[in-house]
Amino acid sequence: MSASTPKLRIALTNGDGIGPEIMAATLELFDAAGVQKHVEFVPVEMGRAVFEKGNTRGMTDQAMATVEDCGILFKGPMETPKGSGGKSINVTARKIWNAFANLRHFQSLPGVSTVYSQAGIPVNFYVVRENIEDTYGGVEHRLTNDMIQCKRLISAPGSDQVHRFAFQTARRLGLKKVHCGHKANIMKMTDGLFLERFKAVAKDFPEIETADVIIDALCMNLVLRPQQYQMVVLPNLQGDIVSDLAAGLVGGLGFAPSANIGRHISIFEAVHGTAPDIAGRGIANPTALILSGLMMLRHIGMMRQAALIENAVLCALEEGVRTGDFGDQTKPALSTRDYTKAIISRLGKAPSSGKGMAVSAEGADDRPTFVKPSRPIHQEIIRTFTNVVSHVVGCDIYLDTPLSPIAVADEMTRAAADTPFKLTLISNRGTQVWPTGSIYTECVDYYRVRFEIRDGVRPGEFGQGRAIALLDKIAEKFSVCSYELLRTFDGVKGYSLAQGQ
Ligand code: NAI
Repeated sequence: MSASTPKLRIALTNGDGIGPEIMAATLELFDAAGVQKHVEFVPVEMGRAVFEKGNTRGMTDQAMATVEDCGILFKGPMETPKGSGGKSINVTARKIWNAFANLRHFQSLPGVSTVYSQAGIPVNFYVVRENIEDTYGGVEHRLTNDMIQCKRLISAPGSDQVHRFAFQTARRLGLKKVHCGHKANIMKMTDGLFLERFKAVAKDFPEIETADVIIDALCMNLVLRPQQYQMVVLPNLQGDIVSDLAAGLVGGLGFAPSANIGRHISIFEAVHGTAPDIAGRGIANPTALILSGLMMLRHIGMMRQAALIENAVLCALEEGVRTGDFGDQTKPALSTRDYTKAIISRLGKAPSSGKGMAVSAEGADDRPTFVKPSRPIHQEIIRTFTNVVSHVVGCDIYLDTPLSPIAVADEMTRAAADTPFKLTLISNRGTQVWPTGSIYTECVDYYRVRFEIRDGVRPGEFGQGRAIALLDKIAEKFSVCSYELLRTFDGVKGYSLAQGQ
């Protein structure tokens, strides 16, 4: 890069609460390490102040344009408005820009006392969380007086993207093993697909060992023996919960950085929120945001500055430098500014533990290599499976009714007469209550009735119109909340059985 080469532009928003304090500290440290020689941070308006002006998205059009132009957003924590219907801007940003993989690094740090550091157990692993799908689609409906539903969406290409990112990252970091966390023993189709795609993508990374682990066992293992994990990839909600559990293992939210990586736009932010209880007092711990910034520097290729800063942070922590939320209580707690100054004064030093990063020679690996992919010209359709032969073989119809299972069965059997379908199942909250069931099953006002094609009717003999005609007929007498077509895909049933079926 010559003197005239333009700096790499990175969109920057301070965030709310402690955001401005910890962002100022991080930028001061980055400036001292020479980052701003090659990077221009471009402020954008997002967060509380924008919500308060009536913008329900929480970001101005100008902010969106700048982020899309830069391809990288360095972000302070942002408050989610309560009760006003405003969605979390943090989730909105990840979703609209398709930052599909959330990468978080959890490592024991010197000077940060935890039960593991006291027991001499090193913790050092990554969590990769799928960021777009799962229940985070927020597709929720009230179906009856007593029933609300949230749809859990898991797609094959969405899973492929996050698994591929996880394996590529593991390869780059030299990790030997990647685990897939899931609940496929219960959610056989959604988590089953996530796990199946993990195994499929793993074939392109033969040097990396793989294993899968059920989410509940994973939580216990992480607490008992966290050192057995190097990287765990998880669906969205499970990944969210495991990430915070992992933050607890390394000393809390003050030390948990994260990167939201997409093909076009990536967002770097601390895991923690706006900490309203300590905002404005100048005492917040900026470490998580600094570490998130280091993930960003490595993402754009500024390895030298990242190593310099990481070593200075480790040196400071080793020497007991601390903010009030952690560390040796017998040593004075520093303000955010003094903590930052203490790190700056250690730039160029290597930690005595020997765990420091190798710093490239001056002038090497210190300029951005990041090239923003060009803006897509249309919304891309992503696909994994194509040319699958699919047939309608029935439908599940969901009813809002106070009737008993037997009474529902009588009505439904009558409705299906003279149609290609027969009633095969009634379930309540997923448990079969007809043709057999347990007297102990308590029923709410929301039933699923399942119709499947009669013996002798071949799959593919008719389209979905006949199933919808049956739905119409039932809707004349019953309140139909929703329905799902039952389909086979290359001859395999694309629907689950009821509990007890
Ligand atoms: P929080 O993470 O802001 O605070 C939880 C506790 O940790 C508080 O006691 C706080 O003082 C402490 N804490 C957090 N970060 C700290 C730091 N850097 N230094 C010292 N102490 C720290 O979580 P909370 O209270 O549930 O959420 C507050 C707001 O933040 C909410 O509006 C929430 O929606 C938002 N939030 C934003 C996130 C983001 O921008 N990515 C993530 C999580 C929450």
